[in-house]
Amino acid sequence: MQIFQSAKKDPKILRGNLFGLISKEIELVEEEFRVNAASNIQVIDFLGDYLRGSGGKRIRPSLLILANKAAGADGASDSTIRMATVMEMLHTATLVHDDIIDNADTRRNMPSVNSRFGNQASVLMGDWLYMSAFEIALRERSLEILDILTELTRRMTEGELIQLTVLGRSDISEETYFDILCRKTAFLFSACCEIGAILAGAGKAERSAMREFGLNLGIAFQLADDLLDFTARKDVIGKASGADLIEGKLTLPLILLVEDDPSERNRLEQIMRDGAYIGDARRDLLEKLEDSGALRRARRKAMEYADLAKRNIAILPKTEYRLALEDIPTLMIEREN
Ligand code: IPE
Ligand code: IPE
Ligand code: MG
Ligand code: MG
Repeated sequence: MQIFQSAKKDPKILRGNLFGLISKEIELVEEEFRVNAASNIQVIDFLGDYLRGSGGKRIRPSLLILANKAAGADGASDSTIRMATVMEMLHTATLVHDDIIDNADTRRNMPSVNSRFGNQASVLMGDWLYMSAFEIALRERSLEILDILTELTRRMTEGELIQLTVLGRSDISEETYFDILCRKTAFLFSACCEIGAILAGAGKAERSAMREFGLNLGIAFQLADDLLDFTARKDVIGKASGADLIEGKLTLPLILLVEDDPSERNRLEQIMRDGAYIGDARRDLLEKLEDSGALRRARRKAMEYADLAKRNIAILPKTEYRLALEDIPTLMIEREN
């Protein structure tokens, strides 16, 4: 299925091209993460290693660093490296908890922490990562940054809770979908970009441009992620594919399908009840999504947000960092994992 036409992009290539400008800083983030996830409590040390070693694209710290430089920072300060690490730790904590909530077996092509070590250890490890991230952030002694982080983590939790309340519903509105999506994903992207700008000492206008850029980029990113759930192969995406509907989550392509033809709700409800694609159910659904144009329309939406994001940062000086940031929205929606 040619929903994503780009060349193959694995995380290494993505990091190599897109984030090549900041590869030194990302190495420093890896080291900072290693130091901060180390513990003399053996079980924490072990799980920390397991999580760090599983990889990940490191998009959020990369965004913070690029935003910092695009907003005029000269070099990467210790604060920037620390806060970039904080954002990756928060992201990791949300993934650990999310995989428990979604009962996911696989993450980054490895057994998820919950499936390998159980829910109890995963809840606690997620909590530990959250609190350790806040402890590091506190070193900045910045109420401005703490305000952003506490509001962000509250909203992320709200997003997961709202999602729980609409789980299994075949009548969810686009509005509810976008509300959940912003809370789950886009506000974190937005916070990364805004904190990057704050640490560069940027003015109000630049800071707000970065915040909006991150928000629109985050929306495009999650829309693409939801499309990948239909179109990507499991070994490429590194997690179960086709899982959203089985988990009871209607994403934009399905919402558009139902808006056009409410009788499609029956099919979706059946799959959710079965908790699996029986027989040709998956192939038939994909065909329907393609023929009806629902996949195309969802992809167009992702592109609209990607374009908005690019326009948000037009007020920044035209540096190589701004240009790199401008490339990210398109790459995010053309990614394959
Ligand atoms: C996964 O994010 C969670 C979503 C918001 C969809 P990423 O795709 O950035 O995950 P990693 O860190 O690269 O594994
Ligand atoms: C995204 O939620 C993860 C978070 C931002 C907490 P999903 O459940 O939609 O994403 P995946 O598919 O598990 O990565
Ligand atoms: Mg999940
Ligand atoms: Mg989830």
